[in-house]
Formats: sequence, structure tokens, C-alpha cells
Amino acid sequence: MAKKDLLRPAVWAGASAGAAAVLAKRMKEKGICPFCELKRIAGKLKLHTEPQHTVGSAAPTPPMGWSSWNLFERNISEDLIVEIADAMEKSGLAAAGYRYVNIDDCWQSSERDENGRLQADRATFPHGIRALAEQVNARGLKLGIYSSNGTRTCEDYPASLRHEAIDADTFAAWGVEYFKYDFCHNKVISEKAPLVSGVELARPGEGVYQSLIPAQAVLQGRARLVKDEKSGRVYLAGLDARQGSFSLNTEAKENCKVTLTLTVKKPADAERFLRLTVNGKEEYHLYAPKMRAPVPDPGDRRMQTMIRLQQGMNTLVFDNPVASRFDSAVLQYRLMGRELRRAARETAEKEGTAEKPIVYSICEWGFNRPWKWGRTAGNLWRTTGDIKPFWASVLGIYERNVLLWKYAGPGGWNDPDMLEVGVGSRLTENECRAHFSLWCMMAAPLILGNDVRAFVKEDGTPDLDNKYLKMLTNETMIAVDQDVLGQQCRRIKAGLQDILVKPLSGARAAVCVFNKARKPARVRLDFKEIANLGFVSMPQKDSYEVRNVWNGGTHIGLSVLTAECAPHCAEVFIIQ
Ligand code: GLA
Repeated sequence: MAKKDLLRPAVWAGASAGAAAVLAKRMKEKGICPFCELKRIAGKLKLHTEPQHTVGSAAPTPPMGWSSWNLFERNISEDLIVEIADAMEKSGLAAAGYRYVNIDDCWQSSERDENGRLQADRATFPHGIRALAEQVNARGLKLGIYSSNGTRTCEDYPASLRHEAIDADTFAAWGVEYFKYDFCHNKVISEKAPLVSGVELARPGEGVYQSLIPAQAVLQGRARLVKDEKSGRVYLAGLDARQGSFSLNTEAKENCKVTLTLTVKKPADAERFLRLTVNGKEEYHLYAPKMRAPVPDPGDRRMQTMIRLQQGMNTLVFDNPVASRFDSAVLQYRLMGRELRRAARETAEKEGTAEKPIVYSICEWGFNRPWKWGRTAGNLWRTTGDIKPFWASVLGIYERNVLLWKYAGPGGWNDPDMLEVGVGSRLTENECRAHFSLWCMMAAPLILGNDVRAFVKEDGTPDLDNKYLKMLTNETMIAVDQDVLGQQCRRIKAGLQDILVKPLSGARAAVCVFNKARKPARVRLDFKEIANLGFVSMPQKDSYEVRNVWNGGTHIGLSVLTAECAPHCAEVFIIQ
């Protein structure tokens, strides 16, 4: 082929059609259906969310608090956390709404305890987390903690993947009320399901009381029975990657916990996964490990878990709903959410105390489109990678998060990461003001990252002259973030200067002018035009009352305003 022909699209199209035909032929020769293969590959790029209820009651408005990560990273201790809680109370931050004191990574000991539970570093948190939670609670604040949806945390400490129930129980027993779940050392769940040859149920101390064989199962989708010619055993197959499921019924005389034993063919090639859903509600994850040394006829192995049955008839459905890495993340994050809610409920019942709902913060950096499913698992979801205390980072995160407005709402929030106001010296005061204003306009969780001890004077009173304390406790700005409508702003003009509009309760709106330029800007706002926007419920009037959030001034009788905005800064107005 001539060199110039390589530039012609028709030549490429012809060549790829030819290559595809050859590939399809080869696949057919090997007994592979090319269309099914294409469908499988396309499925790997998709998120297959199953309908689920939202779980928002723990965070009707965006959570507010402080976290140890942005400034202190690995250098944390119980003394620091108590000092921070103290400062939050004394500075007035707590009264302004900042309620959660969140310990991020590095609180853990390097090993679980003798009962398999996570434990705090014995040197830096010598009194343990429960005692620390009590100290934080005594100051009218709530304690938050951190783990990873992986085998280790981002700083390589023990983490919670496949320890969801026991870790949720531990956190609830400690009185934790906020939980951040990171994504380091995650393991993607296998799309393959094991071949199942039997299911047994046993009561504790009594042994097996019910054995079910494959022929008794009700099959759905591609689920089918296959016979192993060598051993003569019959297996349930066709459960891979959402293709099929089987179900069984079992009766229980009372609400009880029983042991479920599944017999499966030992997987030779890779770890395999099966989900069990009981009565459409409770979910159990079962993993069959890959064999150490594959042999031709490996025989069967047992997989066990304790399950809860209700009095009466129970339906057990087995499937593998994972057809992509997205599905894997959703399943894992939802599982932890369910365990946290269960643990909070059961701990309250056991201790005879009021339930402490746990705010559940999903932190998988936006990798698996968490805005699409986050509210069916938890209360907030990080939409981007980690924030850093410099302008390009704040701006980059804003540009991404601002587009996701339709997913935020009461109970479930886009999380553009924690605040860097007052962290380091690279962000100017104006940039900090822009950062804080944008986060409030976007109905973002407001989790401080700075050393709030600097907000308290030596005599224990708040340093009311501190520019960052003033900024972070601006009541009108916080009220924009916390507005009960829970709507994230929409960008109505994008450019060197953005204009953002956030509908507020009481037929009001917040309007923000954000100047990204290095020069001051003047931006004309027409309030009649803004009231005309479909998503704003402000009445049409000849003039409006306009309040400037940052200088506190109020003008009555305005229909247009030219906002003056400093470089890398934001102005916010409340219009009614
Ligand atoms: C990840 C998270 C951060 C922080 C660190 C802790 O990077 O995104 O917010 O929690 O881990 O190791």
C-alpha cells in the first residue's frame, strides 16, 4: 500500500472491516460467539446500577466539621484531636455548625487485635477511640473515623474490605458518627461465579437441618444445570457477570441466625464471587479463592457465612451482579453502608441508648461515577482526586464538581474534598474566599482542614480578628450551603468570570460572581433575568432586595447590579 493511502479514512475503514471479519471467523472456529464477546466488552465499560432506596437521613444538609488529613496527615494523636475539639468549641466554630471532628488515616495500629477488630495505635491513641469519642461528645461535637474499601488504607494500615460487618460494629460501639471510606488497595470483585453443587443450612450447635441440591433451585436468566462428566456431579452454572441467578426457599420457625454452607467446584483459574440476597434485603458476599495448584479434577470446597432468617418463608437468591469495575465498587460501597446502618441500629438496641446515625462519606475520587449511585450507598461522595492548598487544585476541582449539580440534594452530596482555607501560605485571602464561596454555592460538605487551634486566644476566647475565622463563620455564607432546598448551584455563564445561581428556600436565590482572571473584573447581573430562569422560584419584580454576603451591605430596590470582583475572588449576593 502506498504511504499516502494510509491517510485515507476509507482505507482504514476497509482494513478494519477486513480485520474484524478475520477475527470473527477465528472466534467462531474456537466456539466463541463474536456478538456475545462484543456485548461483554461493552458491558465492562458500563455501570449497571440496580434500583435501590436512597439512604439520606444522616445528612439532610451538607455535613460540616473538621478533618485531620489536609494539614496534619500522619502526625495525629488523641491529644491533638482533643485540642482540636476544644478549639472548635471555644472558637465558635461548633456554634456556627461545624459538628464533626474527623480522624483521617493513620489512627490505626498496624495489626488488628486478638479478636480481629481494628484497634487504634497504642502509643498515639493510648486510651482508644471510644474514650476519645466521649471527650469529643462532651464538647457537643461528634467523632468521625476513616478506613479504606481495600485490604489496606492509603497509608497502608489495616482496612475494611471483607471486614465490613466487624468494622462497622467496632465503629458503632465506639460511638463514631461519621465514616470516610477511601479506595486505596481496593480489589475488584471477579465477574465469575463458582459452580454450585449444594446449599446447606445449619443452626448453631445443632448441625445441618436443610440440604438443597441444584435440581431444587428455581433458575433465572442463563442459569442452568451442568453435569461434570468425570465426577458425575451436577452443578448450577451460568451465574457469571449478571447473566443468571438461582433461588431457594427456606422456612424459619423464628427470627434466627443460621450458618449457610455452599459447596462449589474449586476454582482453578481465578477467585470467584457469589452474592446471596435474603428476602430482597440483606446481602452477603462469598468469595471462593483460586486454587493453590490447579489439578484436572479438583473436587469441591465449602464456603460459609452466617445469615439472618425471618420467621416464616425466606427467599435466598444467588447471583454475581458484577459485569464491570464500576459494578464492583457500587456493590462494595453499598455493602459497607448497609453494615454501618445495621451496626448503628443494633448498638443502640444493645446499649439501650438513642441511635447514633453514621454519616457515610464515599471517597473513591470519582473513579466509578459515584454521583450516579452514591445516594443509594451513603451521604456524600468525592467527585475528584485530592485537593491541595494551591489555586490550580481548587480551580480544577471546582471546574469538575460544578457540572454535577443535578446529583446533589438533601441526604446525598457531591464532595469536592475538604477545605484548604487557612492551610499553608500559597492560597491568598481572596483565593480562600473564592474557595469557600464556591463550596457553599455547590452545597458541598464543609470539612475544615486547617489548624483551628489558631482561632483561640491564650485566654480561651475566640480570636475574632482572625480573617479565616471570620470567613469560615460567615453566617450568611454558611446558610447558603446549608439551605434546606439542598440544591447545588448551576453555572449560567462560564468564562474568565463565571456566574453561579443557587435557588434558596423562601423564594430567594444566591448569585455568585467568580473571577478566575488575574485582573479585577466588573460583571453585570440582571436579577429579572435570573428570576426568569426555570430552576429559580424567585418572583418576577421590578426591583429586588440584594444582600452582599462578604461586605454585609444590603441594597433595596435593585434590578441590575454591576459586581466588582477582585482577581481570583468571588462575590456572593442573596436576592429576594
Ligand atoms: C486518600 C484520600 C485523602 C486522605 C488520604 C489518607 O488520598 O483521598 O482524602 O484520606 O487518602 O491517606
